[in-house]
Amino acid sequence: MPAPAVVTTVEALRAVVDGWRRDGERVALVPTMGALHAGHLALVAEARRAATRTVVSIFVNPTQFAPHEDLATYPRNLESDLAALAPTGADLVFAPDVGEMYPEGASTVVTVGGPSEGLESVARPHFFAGVATVVAKLLIQCAADVAVFGEKDFQQLAVVRRMARDLSIPTTILGVPTIREPSGLAMSSRNAYLSDEERARAAGLHAALARAAEAIGSGQAPADALTRATAQIEASGFTLDYVELRDAETLQAFEPRSGRPGRLLAAARIAGVRLIDNVPVTISPDHA
Ligand code: PAF
Repeated sequence: MPAPAVVTTVEALRAVVDGWRRDGERVALVPTMGALHAGHLALVAEARRAATRTVVSIFVNPTQFAPHEDLATYPRNLESDLAALAPTGADLVFAPDVGEMYPEGASTVVTVGGPSEGLESVARPHFFAGVATVVAKLLIQCAADVAVFGEKDFQQLAVVRRMARDLSIPTTILGVPTIREPSGLAMSSRNAYLSDEERARAAGLHAALARAAEAIGSGQAPADALTRATAQIEASGFTLDYVELRDAETLQAFEPRSGRPGRLLAAARIAGVRLIDNVPVTISPDHA
């Protein structure tokens, strides 16, 4: 299949999407920052199942990076992203520049409370305002019926859902389970910063979370399971930012007897690279 066509302006994006709509097509958007890997391709596959036309946006969004973060070095290679998208059947890439997304004098910021509190916001207080602002803009620009996000960024997914609901944006937000390397390491563009040996050790993050989720599900006290997970993550060579058990929908404190699903979320640094991961927690009925 040929690589998808590329548009770089909101006007050109709208012209294509309006044409599709006149033909009765249903449109899905997959927002990305490029450096596409198998995790992103799974989002495109889900988009293609959910709609008849798929737009992939590629934009490294400066407002979600703090000054000390990796905005300047974040991998950018449109050619290789287009080559990765060619076999997926994605129809269009929207690749705006910073001036198109944030025109001169841009002064509007979308801030979301609730699910953006704690977890990622402790180390990255700027992050979710940047994400919510750019995603709100993309949803409005594309007027998609559906937008697809990975569960790897679980808090981001919850924030985007809350934002779309609160702003009455008529786009259905779909979450796709995390795609993992055979070792269990969650696929991430930032894995490219790790050596093979560091990547192998980084798999310890998911292994520890999976063990803790299993233990909590079978009745172990969450505090004990989290203490054990902390030790295991650190033994793999990570410096831990957090490992926390939350309600999977609200991301507020998890109540084991609520009958609601939980989520175990962690962020940790290895070899100077900050990785995040999360796993579902289901309390078996015998232990609820
Ligand atoms: O998950 C990402 O790649 C980004 O945070 C997103 C959703 C594309 C917004 O810039």
